[in-house]
Amino acid sequence: MHIAFVDSNPVGLNALLAAKRRGHEVTFVSSKQFVEFLGDLSAIEARGLADRIVRIDASRDEDELFAALSELNRKHPLDAVVTVLEYCASSVARCAQRLGLAGTDPAALSLAQNKAACRDRISASGLRSVGHFVVDTLELALVRAAHIGYPVIAKPLSGGGSILAEKIDDEDRLRAYFASLGKQLALPAGLLDAISPQTLLEDYIDGPLLSVEVAAAAGEVVPLIVSARKRCIDEPAIELGTTMPAPVSSEVADALRAYAVEVVRSVGLDFGIFHIEIILSEHGPVLVEANPRIMGGNMPTVFKLATDIDAYDLLVDMYLTRAMPVACRDIVPIQAATTRMIGAAESTQVEKAIAPHWNAPFKERLAGWRFDVSRGTRVEKMDSSTCPFHFQVVGASAHESSLLAEWIIGQTARATGIKLRSSSEDYLFR
Ligand SMILES: Nc1ncnc2c1ncn2[C@@H]1O[C@H](COP(=O)(O)OP(=O)(O)OP(=O)(O)O)[C@@H](O)[C@H]1O
Ligand SMILES: [Mg+2]
Repeated sequence: MHIAFVDSNPVGLNALLAAKRRGHEVTFVSSKQFVEFLGDLSAIEARGLADRIVRIDASRDEDELFAALSELNRKHPLDAVVTVLEYCASSVARCAQRLGLAGTDPAALSLAQNKAACRDRISASGLRSVGHFVVDTLELALVRAAHIGYPVIAKPLSGGGSILAEKIDDEDRLRAYFASLGKQLALPAGLLDAISPQTLLEDYIDGPLLSVEVAAAAGEVVPLIVSARKRCIDEPAIELGTTMPAPVSSEVADALRAYAVEVVRSVGLDFGIFHIEIILSEHGPVLVEANPRIMGGNMPTVFKLATDIDAYDLLVDMYLTRAMPVACRDIVPIQAATTRMIGAAESTQVEKAIAPHWNAPFKERLAGWRFDVSRGTRVEKMDSSTCPFHFQVVGASAHESSLLAEWIIGQTARATGIKLRSSSEDYLFR
């Protein structure tokens, strides 16, 4: 069968690999808007991940994408078109619908991406949510934030990567936040285009951040796994890592799963694999956001380590069969796995000569390690949830892999002299 993938990040290229491994024909549609995520396309060619690459300008432009996919479909009939990126998910879903292919309901996808409309929908369904206002100006924001009560969260009405998502404790911070909105961000063009100029102010929800991956197809909605998210102790909008399965009690996991399934049903996310972010408040689970795309960042790697199942196999099977993959219904973790960003708390230059074999004590436990710094390397402050350095570890229990990751962070800080972002570890004892 023939499946087209539209744009990707490096981890998402494993979706192409999953399709190739299953013997399918693969086209990669690469747009200038997101090619920066991949650097260049040589990895796709070198790894033989696609039978062809179609280059376009803007995958967020539905008409341009549709023209490219229609032409492709004429020459090489398509059985599915999908993206792992949230930022072009809407145009991809619309094109899939126009081509008569499987995809998420475009209206539901747009609803999920408008974080205010999404909250309104789930509240109307009787699901727990929080107070929020959409604001365009600082003046209005000051009034609305006072109404909600500090602290509040400010974030773009639609966005991603925690870009411009910030906890705001008082009026001064709110003024500084609005002042920062005018600044140019060094981001790929498509990502800049996807970030709404409107600001959403939300009541700040206290509690640990967790997420549930949810699959939906053929009228069935199935929770796949619950994860715990590590967040920065002093800037909670910055995410530092993920542990699967979440080290929480079975009662808490059940409540999270049930809530996530209800959110997916309420928003109408009818087809696909979705990433539902939830904070466990003192009253129970509260939605942070319903991401209408498969888990991102290093989460698919953690999912594979924890379950021995490739999430992209599930995605490819679902899109090509239009049915719920059998494996989705019974996911049993075989071990625990954690991914952790090695993010600097301040921009700095590595002054210390790093001892050889400094990581020998924990090397055996690593399933992945990306931290290529040495004396003289300049390291930028981690300011959003993206960071070039990270590692993955596995453990017999979720507590073990999650806390092992924190110990490794401590060792790394000591060995390099870099002050690293610390995790609040607020998921513990739930
Ligand atoms: N109402 C809230 N209360 C407390 N924390 C929040 C709230 N909304 C967002 N956050 C924190 O800010 C982070 C970023 O917010 P959100 O997920 O909505 O933005 P995003 O940019 O789409 O994120 P990403 O794409 O990285 O998942 C969340 O992961 C969470 O830690
Ligand atoms: Mg989020």
